[in-house]
Amino acid sequence: MALPSRQAKLADIEKSRNQVLSHPLARGISPAEVRDHLASLPRKRFPRVMYAERGEGPYIQPRGGFPLFEAQHRLTQQLSESGADFIPLTIDSYTRQNQYETATQLLHRSEEEGKNYLNGYPLISHGYELTRQLYTNLDKPVSLRHGTPDARLLAEVAIASGIAEIEGGAICYCLPYSEGFPLDRCLLYWQYVDRICALHSTPELPIHRESFGPLTATLVPPAIAVAVEIIEALLAAEQGVTSFAVSFGQTGCLFQDIATAAVLRELTRYYLDLFGFESVQTYLVYHQWMGQFPAERERAAALIACSALVSSVIDADKIVTKTVDEAVGVPRPEINAEACDTVRYVLRTFRSAETMTSPIIQRETDLIRSETTSILEEIFNISGREFWDSIWRAFQMGFLDVPFAPHIDNRNQLLSVRDADGAIRIADSANVPISRGDAELEREILQSRKGAEDKTYRLMLDDIRAMV
Ligand code: 5AD
Repeated sequence: MALPSRQAKLADIEKSRNQVLSHPLARGISPAEVRDHLASLPRKRFPRVMYAERGEGPYIQPRGGFPLFEAQHRLTQQLSESGADFIPLTIDSYTRQNQYETATQLLHRSEEEGKNYLNGYPLISHGYELTRQLYTNLDKPVSLRHGTPDARLLAEVAIASGIAEIEGGAICYCLPYSEGFPLDRCLLYWQYVDRICALHSTPELPIHRESFGPLTATLVPPAIAVAVEIIEALLAAEQGVTSFAVSFGQTGCLFQDIATAAVLRELTRYYLDLFGFESVQTYLVYHQWMGQFPAERERAAALIACSALVSSVIDADKIVTKTVDEAVGVPRPEINAEACDTVRYVLRTFRSAETMTSPIIQRETDLIRSETTSILEEIFNISGREFWDSIWRAFQMGFLDVPFAPHIDNRNQLLSVRDADGAIRIADSANVPISRGDAELEREILQSRKGAEDKTYRLMLDDIRAMV
């Protein structure tokens, strides 16, 4: 058995760090100089400081990335003025796949032609010195949003740029984002990322990590998402990270969201404490609907407003927003700023004073808690040299199975559909070790949906398009 542990072997990053930092595009990053730069930043550039000051309502976090420096600079200003509490830096797909040369070529072409040939900001091509200038005078945290299995150089450059929040993780940025990037390598590369975050942290001003709970954002049963989030929090804690946000994506069912939030909060704390990580501070982030979006802007706006309300009901620490142009492509800055404004309006108008409870919320909470606990306990029982190794084996054995993940290391045998209330149900748990009682309860609740047995495929398509 290889349980998460405070005595876990720290990632042996010394040798590989020299190698990573000797890349020409690292442009001579010096960890000592980066430490001084971080110490010179306004305190509010650190999520921990922001979260400690949170009053009523969640913080607002949009996404956004353009190839050109000037465009990114304008976006940063516009989002900040429109009320974004956290500023995004969304990275382009070539950089995410470590194709830095292509990213640099397309950046040059974008500069020459004044057009966007990249779907985000090529951070490594721009480098940390220029990128620091995006944030002169900014007193809000910047969040690195990407989807990179091997984010070692990217995280180094981000932290050197003064970015104190790094999104991602070995599971959540591998399975949904890659077909074949080996999961075991990804687990080790993310140990590196977690470790450098820890090394650049001080007790008051830690580099904050955030996991990406929506995963494929398509019919992911809450227990799977919650288990993955807790695992990533434990993996980060093993490497010395002390500030961590778990997250999940809107399920499409209000009571399931309330139950998911409750279990995610409770069990993240429980397992961190159980393994001796009491000092790790945790936060809850809610993603507005991450599935297929309606093309009609009015409907998209309604969806955005409603999910803002849910984030208030579950008292999320932060909400990650979408825009009315989600179905069309990368949003223009004005559209993105408008979304922040809409969400701010909803959060200001509808405050939620009490945690909501009802028999159905209670049943759902108990079920998700029981399933998540079963899955995690089985994983903790897997033999392995270290905890990360057990996680890798868990995927091989199908103990963790993420619906619709394109990755070869994912089983893709778990079957999920929506029930009559729109909640995501496990129709077939395959090798995922939930108890027989929980599996039966899932099916029982599902029975209420007419014809669920013989029309599963058509129903699934309807479910994926639930919001459209
Ligand atoms: N600008 C703004 N939003 C982006 N997203 C991805 N790239 C960008 C970008 N460059 C958002 C989209 C997508 C989600 C994962 O991130 O909403 O669905």
